[in-house]
Amino acid sequence: MSQAQCIDGKAIATQIRNEIAASVQTRLQQGLRAPCLAVILVGEDPASAIYVRNKREACRTAGVQSISHTLPADCSEVELHRLIEKLNHDDSVNGILLQLPLPAHIDADALLELITPHKDVDGFHPYNLGRLAQRRPTLQPCTPYGIMQLLDRIGEIYKNRHAVIVGASNIVGRPMALELLLAGCTTTVCHRFTRDLGYFVRQADIVVSAVGKPGIIKGEWIKIGATVIDVGINRLADGSLTGDVEFNIARERAAWITPVPGGVGPMTVAMLLKNTLTAADNALKNANNRVNNT
Ligand code: GUN
Repeated sequence: MSQAQCIDGKAIATQIRNEIAASVQTRLQQGLRAPCLAVILVGEDPASAIYVRNKREACRTAGVQSISHTLPADCSEVELHRLIEKLNHDDSVNGILLQLPLPAHIDADALLELITPHKDVDGFHPYNLGRLAQRRPTLQPCTPYGIMQLLDRIGEIYKNRHAVIVGASNIVGRPMALELLLAGCTTTVCHRFTRDLGYFVRQADIVVSAVGKPGIIKGEWIKIGATVIDVGINRLADGSLTGDVEFNIARERAAWITPVPGGVGPMTVAMLLKNTLTAADNALKNANNRVNNT
């Protein structure tokens, strides 16, 4: 068996970001505004600050406008409530992103649900997740959506394939299962209460791991010819980044595998831009429909 081919998420994300930049330019040439993303950051979590900086930089390079709302860690839920309501009603804002995690005294779920679904560019609102569950996707959660783009581009077949997702979070595992189910996979979700993880992973034609524990997916479990998607980003003691999968062993068995870094990570940001553009396009269509119907 030859080594797996690496899925170059960085290159694919760059291609998608270039396509978005071209669409934004077309909008501007038509005399329309650039799409606009409002980013809310609460507190000083260093990882969140880096993510937000990367997202804003990605917006800048694609010509998407971004506005930043940075609040102190001790801000009240009412303050955040008011800010989200204001952004919901601001027609110049197309997307609202509430960076997670939030400080413990704030009910993140309640605030995510407050974001109007049409501006929910993270795809976390129960309406958008419900639409995905009912096979009528609207704005889709960015990481699973990005993974589907990677799988489409390697010509993944989906039907008659067994996908095993490891990790059942609201952000990745659960919506990933819905995406793969929609695409036609037989889908299994493993989580912290799964007794024999290896038993399930050994059966997988597609493995998606989103746990955040280095080496939790043993290389020897990977079925020959499988596709392996590693969402884990774990920092080791020496400062290097590694995924959830034992990469060197897994790559001897898989047909396709994502590296960490440079696999799934860049796709999440690309899909955030895509959702922001989609939200802006939808807002324009709705406005035109309103004019045509009056
Ligand atoms: N924190 C970690 N990942 C994400 C994400 O995709 N969106 C938001 N809003 N917060 C996050």
